[in-house]
Amino acid sequence: MPMSIEPEPYRLRISGFDRSQERWIGTLLTLANGRLGVRGELELAGSRSNACFLSGLYNNIPLWRRELVMLPTVSNVYLPYHFDIIDRGSVERLLDMRRGLLVTRAGIGRSIEYYSENAVHRRRKNLFMQRIRLTSDSEDVVILPIENPLNPFLYGYTYTEHLSRERLVFSDNILRVFYRLRDADTMLEVRMMVDPGASSQLDRLVTRDSAGFIIRGRGLDVKRYVEFYIHREGAKGDLEEIVREEIPDWASLLSEHMDSWSRLWDEIGLEIDGSDRLAGSITFYTYHLLQLIDDDGEELMIPARGLHGIGYRGHIFWDTDLYLLPFLTFLYPRAMRGVLSFRCRTLEKAIQYARETGYRGARYPWESVDDGYESTPRYYPVDLDRCKCIDILTGEQEIHVTGDIAFSVLFYYNVTGDEEFMKRCGFRILIETARYWASRVEYDAGKDAYVIRNVIGPDEYHVGVDNNFFTNLIAKYNLKAAFNLVINALKNDEKLLEHLGVSLEEVMEWGRIAEKISLGRERDGVIEEFEGFFDIQADGKVVERGAKRVGVSKQADVVLALLLKEIVEGVEPEILRKNYEYYLERTTHESSLSLPIFATVAIMLGIDERLELFSRVLETDLGNMYGNTHDGFHVAAAGGIWYAILFGLLGIRLRNGELVYHPRRSGDLRLAVNINYRGNRIRISTL
Ligand code: BGC
Repeated sequence: MPMSIEPEPYRLRISGFDRSQERWIGTLLTLANGRLGVRGELELAGSRSNACFLSGLYNNIPLWRRELVMLPTVSNVYLPYHFDIIDRGSVERLLDMRRGLLVTRAGIGRSIEYYSENAVHRRRKNLFMQRIRLTSDSEDVVILPIENPLNPFLYGYTYTEHLSRERLVFSDNILRVFYRLRDADTMLEVRMMVDPGASSQLDRLVTRDSAGFIIRGRGLDVKRYVEFYIHREGAKGDLEEIVREEIPDWASLLSEHMDSWSRLWDEIGLEIDGSDRLAGSITFYTYHLLQLIDDDGEELMIPARGLHGIGYRGHIFWDTDLYLLPFLTFLYPRAMRGVLSFRCRTLEKAIQYARETGYRGARYPWESVDDGYESTPRYYPVDLDRCKCIDILTGEQEIHVTGDIAFSVLFYYNVTGDEEFMKRCGFRILIETARYWASRVEYDAGKDAYVIRNVIGPDEYHVGVDNNFFTNLIAKYNLKAAFNLVINALKNDEKLLEHLGVSLEEVMEWGRIAEKISLGRERDGVIEEFEGFFDIQADGKVVERGAKRVGVSKQADVVLALLLKEIVEGVEPEILRKNYEYYLERTTHESSLSLPIFATVAIMLGIDERLELFSRVLETDLGNMYGNTHDGFHVAAAGGIWYAILFGLLGIRLRNGELVYHPRRSGDLRLAVNINYRGNRIRISTL
């Protein structure tokens, strides 16, 4: 069946079905509420990768240390003729983003009509709901199972087992399946309640890999409610807790869910006027970003691929802090606070990491999981048969993440004025990270400057380089921020130094290093990405040196650094333009984190009037541009789209402690949104 994907404002319509495309479509149609994610592959297709995820639920595993656990599939539906529908019938799916609902219609001619509604409840965080209506000429059979997942370890090679099914408990229309996780003290309970509707018959189904109910009847209207519970040994809420027996009221649960979505959209007040594709794509990425927010949680652990897939094994990168920063801080500050609260909880681990690697202060891991330890794999097997592995040095060298987190704390503070967060731990993060940089830099007498050697910048093609501009600039901001905050606070509190455990001498040193940190060479306004880049770069051509590619960048590096600088203090437009043009030619954009940054700068400079670059960014997941959307949603790219909206189209800047904005119209896109600044809500518009 040919397939088409049509974004419209607040709706995504997918017509037809193509099995070879279904895994990435399953990411586009994922439903989530910040805690629970349920992938959206067609429920009639019987896919074993149509799994669920719970935020923060990680397990030990070789190679990646710990990974997000792929949970059982709870949305698949089996009919005696489901393959006929897929192969011969029609399938039409609609993701209704205003209401947080996935609606599927399928059928064969007029004789069989299948209709379903799926939702992951926005308020009841562990609840997935599904309603199925079936009209056919005869009596029908529907099977609703809970299926054990297949956790791919290395695609195409092998699978891991995170869960082993220990126990099934059936009682009338409720099934409780208990799994033991590889972390042996943790049990997962998946509880399914089925409302079979009037005059239908319910039977049990148990196989080695699945358990559930078989429902028979005419004109079926079946509802199922699935809830996930984690039981940790010794923790409250044990396995024998009383199970609610009465069947929930579908309509009131659903309206609670839909009201919650519509209130959220109202608060954000996003209004877009433009082509359906443009406006629809923007609402699509925004919707998925909103699906990552758990508004009840104090802490948010957002993996690089969301709760939408197992890409990067559910690890948390700088993507979450730096790339989500503008969207969350301006539109949903509580969630940004949640993101940073995860960094608060893991600060002690970051202090330990710095110490273990020979430095002072706090050094955050390049890849994090729930426990805050460095989780970057040291190598990656590219060919298991021949035991061929590639070395991964990002864990050791991609240290800019520490400065990215500090930058995010400071930005969040400047925009929200959240003193409580800063007192609780924001100041400490800034101080401990500054301490790290002060111990990580070296003084180079020849340059009369502080240098940072042996790093990987955002451009990961170049390993072990010295003085990467991005890293040094972010370290400078970090040191300067800690210096300024302490010096200013000292005016009101003489005991502060004692309280913070720092000496005046140490603080003055941060100021000195910040002033004298090397920011490298410039050639006619173009800043060198790292020491020696100008000498090896070959006019945009990829140079192969052994297994390495040099001379071109993988992603925005200098341009991202300049963009951040422009946002918080200003950059001469001519410098921005020269660097943009120079690096645009020399960047492969192999990472999805790149194009949104170039698109933002292009809008700022007024050189992408027709929004061509921006429109390409909108294809990231909607067009499966990187060929890996099946692994999950590209969270950072979606965050990057909001860089382009807030700083590009709406022209927002922070200047001398104030918010300024100069909205600009680009192409035929008109847009308005509510943003939060220091407790006030401001509506900014290009309309
Ligand atoms: C990029 C990193 C990014 C990571 C996770 C890599 O390909 O180079 O900047 O943090 O993917 O999204």
